[in-house]
Amino acid sequence: MEILEHPQQILSWYGEAGVDEAMGEEPLDRYALAAQAAKNRTAQAEQVLKAGEAERAALSAPVLKSGLVSVQPVDNGVSEESIKKAVEVAAQAKTIDDLRAALETFEGCPLKNTAMNLVFGDGRPDAKVMLIGDVPGADEDRQGVPFVGPAGMLLNKMLASIGLDRSEVFVSNAVFWRPPGKRSALAGEIAVCLPFVERMIELVDPMILITLGGPTTHSLLAQQGNISKLVGRWFTYENPRMSHPIAACGLYHPEFLLKSPTMKRQAWANLLAIQEKLKDLKA
Ligand code: URA
Repeated sequence: MEILEHPQQILSWYGEAGVDEAMGEEPLDRYALAAQAAKNRTAQAEQVLKAGEAERAALSAPVLKSGLVSVQPVDNGVSEESIKKAVEVAAQAKTIDDLRAALETFEGCPLKNTAMNLVFGDGRPDAKVMLIGDVPGADEDRQGVPFVGPAGMLLNKMLASIGLDRSEVFVSNAVFWRPPGKRSALAGEIAVCLPFVERMIELVDPMILITLGGPTTHSLLAQQGNISKLVGRWFTYENPRMSHPIAACGLYHPEFLLKSPTMKRQAWANLLAIQEKLKDLKA
């Protein structure tokens, strides 16, 4: 085995392994911290699941077919069984807390093995506006909360520009664990999270669903084509378990806007249309 001695060699080795940022001056065993936090969350999740068990047993059989995922074998270390399990346990969740508890104990997404935390959702469980992003980044992974890094700061400003406080909306992602080394989520990882995302939308039941960026707009709103052709248009989101469709639209992802600030003008126009739609729906 080659021994790396030069600091530059060691840094490049870290870079290739996906370690992309320094965490602090002093070494800190984050694996031990994360393991302890995971233990606490599992205990909490088990309590929530236990409390809901009797109630759930009384429910009729859950709908096993998800609206958008056809249950079939997928790649990326995600088995058909994992997707079936995801559909089954997500359908059993009766509240947002149930759903979080179910995800805490769900072992079917391989990203859980490399992430520090589950990044579930944030905000009001009965929000009128719900936003779904792409995948959690490093800040989100560390805190276990979506959109807390630079993209999150911009998202908060975008919401504020149409009079919405972040605490009034519900924000989540298409994938609940951070893919390592800043990579995008793979098809199987998205597919195994989708039943939970769909159930989350059903439970929050917002007036408006906003998908952030191309990949999430494609998968949730069943649209194709470049996001620039999809923003500014209204769609509906529905799945077979829902009693009514939800008004939905795509919006440029704040991460994209950070890199392409000239697109902010169009994004702000799209936000104004969302504000108008919300006024109409509330009237
Ligand atoms: N980008 C996302 O899509 N989601 C986050 O939570 C953070 C950045």
